[in-house]
Amino acid sequence: MSLAHVYDPQPAHRLAHIIVVGNQKGGAGKSTVAMHILVALMRMGRRTGAIDLDVRQRSLTRYIENRGRWIVARGAKLPAPQIFELSESRQRSLDAAEAEEEAGFRAALKRLSETCDFIVVDSPGGDSHLARLAHACADTLVTPLNDSFVDFDLLGDVDPTNPDIVRPSIYSEMVWESRKRKAQAVRTPIDWIVLRNRTSASRIEAKNKQKVGEALKTLSNRIGFRLAPGLSERVIYRELFPQGLTLLDLDGGAGFGEGELRMSHLAARQELRDLFITLKLPGLEGEALKF
Ligand SMILES: Nc1ncnc2c1ncn2[C@@H]1O[C@H](COP(=O)(O)OP(=O)(O)O)[C@@H](O)[C@H]1O
Ligand SMILES: [Mg+2]
Repeated sequence: MSLAHVYDPQPAHRLAHIIVVGNQKGGAGKSTVAMHILVALMRMGRRTGAIDLDVRQRSLTRYIENRGRWIVARGAKLPAPQIFELSESRQRSLDAAEAEEEAGFRAALKRLSETCDFIVVDSPGGDSHLARLAHACADTLVTPLNDSFVDFDLLGDVDPTNPDIVRPSIYSEMVWESRKRKAQAVRTPIDWIVLRNRTSASRIEAKNKQKVGEALKTLSNRIGFRLAPGLSERVIYRELFPQGLTLLDLDGGAGFGEGELRMSHLAARQELRDLFITLKLPGLEGEALKF
């Protein structure tokens, strides 16, 4: 099946803006970032849907299921996104399996497009067929990246003798392919934003942080992504998963002890605001942030 079938260019089916959170690396923070973007969009009053393509880990699905359970148990007044979870095809032949997965993904996009302003797609790690499909449908691609050269390596290859020379690497090439495929299908570009995640405030890490930052800047000019201010390493980004909450939910109605909003939470919220501003999502320009 060609991409032109998947990515339906008809305006009637293309009302939603598609945000794909992707990186071939597992553990980079994709599901965490996807959930925070979803909640931020809902707090902005936007109709928002989610597609979990990580059929093995199902982290985003589980996060949202936990949120649903919390809402019911506590009578919490919280918005919850619609979620489509794709399952792995059981077809024996690779072609048949890929066709089935593609059809499932297409159907999910179409269904959500009918009712949502934004669709957030959580992409699996690794280089799978579904991940490629998702990337080629992205209007906005958000790539979280751990602040380490080991993770940077999938994005760019740094010359060991001259740090000013950075070449695109395996994941950048995949995004490049996706950009080409999308341009052929609908002629709208993919806006690619790379975001450093779990950055450390420790002095010991400062040198590494600076070096990764410089390499990212060099690479961003070279291959065309925008750099967002990063998210720090903070317990708050991972401790609310069992309740299906994010720190954006803590200031009212979540039923979680609202006195919990500590200084570090306020700083974390500011990081998310900065990320959101950098994303420059359509229809939100100039609107006051509601989180
Ligand atoms: N900024 C952060 N601070 C602290 N922990 C984080 C942060 N971002 C992600 N994590 C944690 O790191 C782990 C991997 O994140 P996850 O979102 O599941 O990554 P991915 O979806 O890319 O595999 C999870 O345990 C998550 O709670
Ligand atoms: Mg994940």
